[in-house]
Amino acid sequence: MGKESVTGTATSEGNPFFHASPQLAAWTSDFGDEYLARNEFADWKLEYGKEAFRRMLGRISFVSVLEVGSNIGLNLWFLRELFGAEVKLWAVEPNRKAFEHLRKDSRIKVEKVWNVSAFELPLPAASVDLVFTAGVLIHIAPNDLGRATDEIVRVSRRYILCVEYFSHAPQEIPYRGRSGLLYKRDFGAFYLDRYPRLRPLAYGFLWQRELPIFDNLNWWLFEKGDGGLSPMNREVNFNHLNWADGQWGFSHRPQSGVRPRMRERECKEDHD
Ligand SMILES: C[S@@+](CC[C@H](N)C(=O)[O-])C[C@H]1O[C@@H](n2cnc3c(N)ncnc32)[C@H](O)[C@@H]1O
Repeated sequence: MGKESVTGTATSEGNPFFHASPQLAAWTSDFGDEYLARNEFADWKLEYGKEAFRRMLGRISFVSVLEVGSNIGLNLWFLRELFGAEVKLWAVEPNRKAFEHLRKDSRIKVEKVWNVSAFELPLPAASVDLVFTAGVLIHIAPNDLGRATDEIVRVSRRYILCVEYFSHAPQEIPYRGRSGLLYKRDFGAFYLDRYPRLRPLAYGFLWQRELPIFDNLNWWLFEKGDGGLSPMNREVNFNHLNWADGQWGFSHRPQSGVRPRMRERECKEDHD
């Protein structure tokens, strides 16, 4: 696909991301600026946002969080309201207007926000308890995806949360009438295949019918491995997940037996 199909009104003048990738060029141009107007703060959004993050993160403890691709920081606002002032919130956002907006926001009080992309996280290895993306990996071209997740896994001290659109097979779909801007896949499988020592702690679905501030989104919460888990043990651990009180969590009940790996055809939906 040609660069024109994704860059819109982006110009290289003063835009350090123009040559980084066609997708980053778009997100740091007028096209990206327009997202701010669709992504405003509103009080009615708060309870939905808190509920979603309570389900995803309510059973783990952390004191520092980095959102990669935060935009103006709605998710960080939910986290601030849910987990209080003690949690240190950091953000990375390539779009200049969104970055400035978040930097000045007095509700969220981010510790620090950087106007950079996922490809160059300005933090030492294992320096943040939890690193997450929400609706960001879908906007990274498949050939660049590993570079972004390598950085996410590198800076995470313990947890990685991934909240993205799901597709059984990698698929590109039009985004706001344009090609080359949105790629769905099983991001959970991508993480596990690329980083076999990650352990899936929980996963789930944010249903737009119930939580209308979100699209229909799948999420995965991973923990960095303890250094000794074989893929087989990892699957036994996976069996510890159970459904209780409307959310996934550990049963803390050791189980014997290994969950057989699903064959691809068993993952398909009826209409596929
Ligand atoms: C659909 S918005 C999601 C914003 C926010 N995470 C949320 O859930 O409201 C995608 C965001 O990712 C940012 N972004 C796009 N490509 C990125 C990249 N390679 N690295 C970091 N952020 C990126 C965009 O500038 C935009 O703010």
